[in-house]
Amino acid sequence: MKILVTGGCGFIGSNFIRYILKKYPSYKIINLDKLTYAGNLENLKDIEKNRNYKFIKGDICNKELVGKIANNVDYIINFAAETHVDRSILEAGSFIKTDVYGTHILLEAAKKYHHKKYIQISTDEVYGSIDKGSFTEESRLKPNSPYSASKTSADLLCRSYFVTYGLPVMITRSSNNYGPYQYPEKVIPLFITNAIENKPLPLYGDGKNVRDWLYVLDNCSGIDTVLHKGIAGEIYNIGGSNEIANIGLTKTILKILNKPTSLIKPVADRLGHDRRYSLKCNKLMKLGWKPKRKFEETLRETVEWYIDNKNWWKKLKDIDFNKYYKKQYKLSNE
Ligand code: NAD
Ligand code: DAU
Repeated sequence: MKILVTGGCGFIGSNFIRYILKKYPSYKIINLDKLTYAGNLENLKDIEKNRNYKFIKGDICNKELVGKIANNVDYIINFAAETHVDRSILEAGSFIKTDVYGTHILLEAAKKYHHKKYIQISTDEVYGSIDKGSFTEESRLKPNSPYSASKTSADLLCRSYFVTYGLPVMITRSSNNYGPYQYPEKVIPLFITNAIENKPLPLYGDGKNVRDWLYVLDNCSGIDTVLHKGIAGEIYNIGGSNEIANIGLTKTILKILNKPTSLIKPVADRLGHDRRYSLKCNKLMKLGWKPKRKFEETLRETVEWYIDNKNWWKKLKDIDFNKYYKKQYKLSNE
């Protein structure tokens, strides 16, 4: 099997490439990644010499480059995206370019070269927020942030390529992932690393927004299930069944690190902040998938990973954060 993985130097993509090369030693992977602020070659340092792995630096919006690579593979899995909701609130253009136009370029390539499968890595955020109950794959799409609107647009393009051209497209919509190599702007790595450094944890609004946390390797096994057993034209939710309010999550992180709750700093709410996400995942479970790892155990392992890999995150925070978070705090405290 020859797979083009896009965005493989990011958090989930790098975990997925490592997972696939270990589980299927004969599979070949080409990783196309633009290396934005979120892409990091260090995330795959341990496998860079694997002869079934090849890295190409480039943009999924580059039609010519994508065409050349796509000609040599028979599957595409598209992880590449701008992914941080707060950034999309400050600047949406790059989200629309990469998440929407980039998806279009990849779909065109998959159509041209008659790929066996095209998998779009989407998100539960396309459904919007839900106070009670859980979203199924049939739920209406009601995205609330520029990020989720760009991901929704990409999902709709994918659907249209299945209906119009019969392209074997599959979409996964997962809940919030956590685990090693997550960029320290997302809440779990941000709060772990701030707490390690005794810095405040900026908790948005009343802290009661709920997210459903999925360990990244359980997402990888879900995508693996879709790759091998998924049906063309179908959408698969991938959730962790670990719903927790942000305040509870924050206190759990502080407890694991043995740090005081006085580090919690309530700040103004995120604009358009979704209250709760929740997914029904029976459809993927019918294909034999279920999340294997327990939340408490993997959260503890994740905390330990950030303690052991200070060199990895320290320089990321030093480079970008001062500039970005100064702006962000100003926005939050207005
Ligand atoms: P990430 O931000 O950690 O990584 C994104 C990667 O894409 C980076 O390596 C970046 O360099 C690359 N990239 C960005 N623009 C590109 C372009 N134009 N061309 C090529 N590469 C480009 O993201 P992540 O958290 O690993 O998310 C991966 C995918 O999963 C995204 O599509 C995201 O929407 C989706 N998703 C993420 C989560 C989550 O909790 N992190 C949950 C559900 C869905
Ligand atoms: O649900 C899937 C989505 O999860 C993915 O599609 C996105 O790419 C990913 O970024 C993530 O989006 P969220 O907005 O849910 O994740 P984030 O880590 O930014 O925030 C999680 C919750 O924590 C959210 O309710 C906002 C809150 N939060 C976040 C940050 C960064 C805070 O209270 N303080 C913070 O500093």
